[in-house]
Amino acid sequence: MARLVRFGVSIDSELIRKFDRYISERNYSNRSEALRDLIRNNLIRREWAETGEVAGGISIVYDHHRRELVNKLLDIQHDYHEVIISTQHVHLSHEHCLEIIIVKGASKKVQALTNKLRSLKGVMHCDIARATTAEKLK
Ligand code: NI
Repeated sequence: MARLVRFGVSIDSELIRKFDRYISERNYSNRSEALRDLIRNNLIRREWAETGEVAGGISIVYDHHRRELVNKLLDIQHDYHEVIISTQHVHLSHEHCLEIIIVKGASKKVQALTNKLRSLKGVMHCDIARATTAEKLK
């Protein structure tokens, strides 16, 4: 782990009051850890906006009785096999399935995959948890 560096920050009283409320709502024990997370989150957001390598999880919920939809979901996932690490399928109910697709690869490909899955008729939910490979956060 890299050595710790201390630095001073000038901030107006109204903004630090809001920040302290934010920290308290999220159970941070101090401002430093909250600030580190904010910085990391912004760096991760940049990784996703740029053309770098990202990691994350796509969740989808759909009705598996729509056979055409199931075929399309599979075809799309095979088209993007190079960014899919694994998938987990859960039978939520008689009709509905939940799938978690773990992805790692070029941000553009991962986002294209997410958009294709989301746009299919019959997909009731499609969202992505944007994580990081952590390679650039070391
Ligand atoms: Ni199922």
